[in-house]
This record gives sequence, structure tokens and C-alpha cells, in this order.
Amino acid sequence: MRRRHLEALRPVCPVCRAPGDEAPLEVGRVEREAEGDLLEGTLVCARARCQREFPVLDGVPLIVPDVRSFVAENVFALMARDDLSETLEGALGDCAGPGSWLDVTRQHLSSYAWDHYADLDPAEEQPPHGDPPGGLRRVLAAGLALAPPPPPGPALDAGCAVGRTAFELAALPGREDELVLGVDLNVGMLRLASRVLRQGVVRYPRRRVGVVYDRREFAARLPGAERVDFWCCDATALPLPAGTFGLATSLHVLDCIAAPVEHLAALGRALRPGGLAVLAAPYDWATSVTPLDRWLGGHSQRAPHGGASEVAVRHLLTGERARALGLELLAEDDDVPWAVRMHARSVVRYSAHVVAARAAGGAA
Ligand SMILES: C[S@@+](CC[C@H](N)C(=O)[O-])C[C@H]1O[C@@H](n2cnc3c(N)ncnc32)[C@H](O)[C@@H]1O
Ligand SMILES: [Zn+2]
Repeated sequence: MRRRHLEALRPVCPVCRAPGDEAPLEVGRVEREAEGDLLEGTLVCARARCQREFPVLDGVPLIVPDVRSFVAENVFALMARDDLSETLEGALGDCAGPGSWLDVTRQHLSSYAWDHYADLDPAEEQPPHGDPPGGLRRVLAAGLALAPPPPPGPALDAGCAVGRTAFELAALPGREDELVLGVDLNVGMLRLASRVLRQGVVRYPRRRVGVVYDRREFAARLPGAERVDFWCCDATALPLPAGTFGLATSLHVLDCIAAPVEHLAALGRALRPGGLAVLAAPYDWATSVTPLDRWLGGHSQRAPHGGASEVAVRHLLTGERARALGLELLAEDDDVPWAVRMHARSVVRYSAHVVAARAAGGAA
């Protein structure tokens, strides 16, 4: 955790916060630090009657409301080794087998690291018939093109996964002085993002077939990386003061999060008046992540939205409901291609609905 981000973004304790009454987090223990970058230690709530501790691990602070449950549920990922050779990792992967925690973790890293970084891999071949990597950056560009440039202020990438969007936001012209924060709840993906940030190296298992993964490792020196940081936070309960950001992105998160409306409200709150939100989603709903009654569309054909997710999102971002969320629709593109590589012979192609929305209180 970069001290520069801690000081400028002033995270608040997610445990004892109440509207209008928030306590700052301070550095508690420092076990490892390098040049203003807290690599291992704790943050602690400054309020005397709370003093809740939040661990910082591999440079990533865990600032979630229920730290104990989060650690209990993610203890494999938090304690996982990432120093093993490809041979050993493959042998353990064979033993653990398909669908195991190790396999699911490697599949996630494979799909997202490929889309985020394979354009920087000198050994990556262009797929002969398939989609090239970098769909995510094209989605971001399509979203930014929908609206005038965002006002000044730090940028947030919510649901950042392995981190490329955060680096893209740091490199946007005219925003060379702005800090960028990527947040996610996936510890393995944040660890990869942290390695790119701190070592300038991408290392990931790229799935070939079954439980066979090829180790990819290459340099990724991204301009503006010194202004980027990654935190483990819930994008429905951001531990930050209201009105912190000038720009917020949420790419392919709305349909991958437990509470999509709360996520939109959290973005509306985190943005400054007139701040820009760029949202994208292919509405690939699954009850394993989002309970059906929280889906935006995707059910209830009799409802005014006719079951259409893009219509449901449009309704949320206009009129009364937009005022309640603090986010108002500016413009949208209904068909932006995005692809997720599953293995060497499988790419899932999506059509993302991309939306630009403005935070309440800004000029028309
Ligand atoms: C489909 S992935 C998209 C990742 C990235 N934005 C991209 O477009 O490549 C959805 C991401 O949202 C993250 N996510 C889901 N629920 C979250 C939450 N409550 N808070 C923060 N991140 C969350 C997941 O861990 C995952 O990295
Ligand atoms: Zn507290």
C-alpha cells in the first residue's frame, strides 16, 4: 500500500462508520516497507473505541467490513504460494484436479491475465481465427468515448481483477497527476496486479487444455504505474470518503457482483459531483454470484423492462431512481465486443452494454 495513496485517499474504517461519522485508518504495524510502500503490516482504525486491525499482505491492504469472515473464507488464497516452479504447480494441479480451488484460481488468472496483458507478451501468438487479447482496453476506450473528459480527481477501477484498467487510467492524457486505485475482492488476482505494479512482471498460468497450464512470464513496464495502487475492498462498501474520485470504471462487474444496485450506489457516492462513471456488462447472470432477485433484468418478462437487462439499467440511471443512486445516464453503446479466453481452443465472445453516467451535482 503506497503511503501516497493512503494520505491522499484517506480510507475510513468500514466497521465503525456511520453516515457523517467516519474514522480514518492509520498505519499500525510495519513489518516490511520499501520506499513509501507498505508491503506487510497492519492498518488500524483511529477511533479509540474501535481500533479494528486490517492486514496488509504483499502490498495489498484488506479493508473489508468483516475481516474475520473474509480471512476465514479466503485463507487458501491469502496463504497460497506463488514461488513454485511450473513443474511443481502442474503436479499439484493434476492431483487437485478439475474444479478444485487450485484449478478455479488458475482458470481465473489465465482468462483475465490473458485479456489484460497478453498484448505485452513477446511470445504470444495471434490466435489464427480467434479474437486478439486486449478486449478490455477496447471496452474502456468505447466507454470513455461516450462522454466528455472526466473532471479532475483520482480514478477508481472497481472490480479491477489483475489490474490493467488501472494502468490504462493512469496513462490517460491530461490525467498525468492523478492517482489511480484498483479494488477487487479476489486475492489471487490482486496478488498478480501487485506484482505487475511492484516488480513490472506479469507471471500467470495460461490454460492450454484440461488442467494443463503453461507458465507465462514477461516484463510489463506501464507508464504512470507509480500513481497506481491496489486494495482489497468490497465495491458495494467502499471504505473511502464520499466524493473522492473524478472518474470511476466498473467493467464487467455489474453481473458479477452480489449486489449490483448497491454497487452503483457506491460508485455514485464515491464520485465527485460531475464525476464520470464508465460501466460495462454483458449481463451473463449467474446465481452463483448474484441472487436472482438482485439481477437487473434477466427475469420477469412481465415487468416494464420486459426482462431486458439494458432496459433495467437504463431505468435505474434515469429519473427518480437515478437521483437516489446519484448517477445519471449520459450515453450508451449497446454492442461492444469483449472476449474471455477459456483455453487454447475456446474463447467466449460477449457483446457488452457500455454506459457513461455522471455523478449527481455536476454541470449539464
Ligand atoms: C468478470 S470480472 C471483470 C474484471 C475486470 N474488470 C475485467 O473487465 O477484466 C469481475 C470482477 O469483479 C470482482 N468482484 C466481484 N464482486 C466484487 C465486490 N463486491 N467488490 C469488488 N470486486 C468484486 C471479481 O473478483 C472479478 O475480478
Ligand atoms: Zn473503526
